[in-house]
Amino acid sequence: MSSRASGGSIPWEMSLFRELTEGLPRQGPGSPETTLHALGLARGLPPRPRILDVGCGPGAQTIELARATGGRIVAVDIRQRFLDELTQRAGAAGVLPQVTTVNTSMLDMNFADASFDLIWSEGAIFIAGFAAGLGAWRRFLKPGGWIAVSEVTWLVPDPPAEAVAFWARNYPGMGSIERNCRIVADAGYVDPDGFVLPVQDWHNYYGPGETRVARLREKYAGDREVLATLDEVQREYDLFRAHSDSYGYVFYVMRKPGA
Ligand SMILES: C[S@@+](CC[C@H](N)C(=O)[O-])C[C@H]1O[C@@H](n2cnc3c(N)ncnc32)[C@H](O)[C@@H]1O
Repeated sequence: MSSRASGGSIPWEMSLFRELTEGLPRQGPGSPETTLHALGLARGLPPRPRILDVGCGPGAQTIELARATGGRIVAVDIRQRFLDELTQRAGAAGVLPQVTTVNTSMLDMNFADASFDLIWSEGAIFIAGFAAGLGAWRRFLKPGGWIAVSEVTWLVPDPPAEAVAFWARNYPGMGSIERNCRIVADAGYVDPDGFVLPVQDWHNYYGPGETRVARLREKYAGDREVLATLDEVQREYDLFRAHSDSYGYVFYVMRKPGA
């Protein structure tokens, strides 16, 4: 979801953001297949790796990683409701003993240095900023450890003005693949790999979101401020339909040197 519609400083429990997101399966584009594809690019992970999942949300990818690796996952988010949803879903999936939830900000994590084999972040590193997140989280990785993040990215050099205007309002830090690859190298990572997420991964996110927006539109029919926010959320969906050739989510997978 775009940053302007993401709740801002409004207390979470009271916010429209909560109503927009509660109970939805994902909070960003993705799919089990995409999570497993990206995991496959992190070559040579040890058995039962120790994983940090940053901005885990309700944990669709957390559960997939737990199943696929047999590892132990520390799942971080600032929304307790998402962590509770993850706990419930991990229990139903039989992977709860592998998952520890931590309610803290990704901007303020204080895990031990070199304590994770893999850092994962689907659709959330934009909150720290692509360069700042990659730089700050590196110390948590063991030498040779992998980091995999998905990030909305320009796919063409001259995207349409409508898309540029929307993302300038909602994520001015959005870069191209080339720029992000330079950031990866400058942050001291090696063996970069990655791929553009399939369009279906956006529909997995937008589909349930659009149904929710339509319901809230009826509920708040007389509230112009809420309707304006819902318009902006819907605009994000419509924009992607119109311009999915120009931008998309990209998974970036790379390794800290060593070992
Ligand atoms: C776009 S969602 C992605 C969630 C999940 N990875 C997914 O793909 O479904 C971004 C997540 O980051 C969380 N978040 C926002 N600000 C945060 C912060 N400062 N620290 C940790 N998590 C944060 C939100 O609560 C939300 O769950």
